[in-house]
Amino acid sequence: MTDRELLDMAIEAMQKAYAPYSEYRVGAAALTRSGRVFTGCNVENRSYGLTVCAERNAIFAAVGAGEKDIVKIAVVAGGGRVPMPCGACLQVMEEFGVEEVVVISPEGDFETYKLRDLLPRPFELD
Ligand code: THU
Repeated sequence: MTDRELLDMAIEAMQKAYAPYSEYRVGAAALTRSGRVFTGCNVENRSYGLTVCAERNAIFAAVGAGEKDIVKIAVVAGGGRVPMPCGACLQVMEEFGVEEVVVISPEGDFETYKLRDLLPRPFELD
């Protein structure tokens, strides 16, 4: 699975975004260590705080299918800037082993970040 293929799956997921309130559409594709891909889009609600981000929907789809070891996640969004994942999603990524986050800039360039650089001090329990 190349980064290009993973990003293409994220783009396909983004088409399904339910974002009538923000009109900001996001798609994510999570690659498991076993080589499977699970996708997600953001799903908003008229009770705004119930919104779930694309990244967490992709990760939760993987976990719900029995895949708890995710190596990489690709994220795409509309809008004019690089779609860096929010802090809540970074924390969830860390829980399931994500090592790298691949995003695509509005110019179409790939950018790859180490999760440990984006979230150097995740919340931990004893
Ligand atoms: N959103 C995501 O899907 N991922 C993020 O990492 C941050 C934000 C969504 C939530 C909401 O539907 C819209 O983007 C605007 O915040």
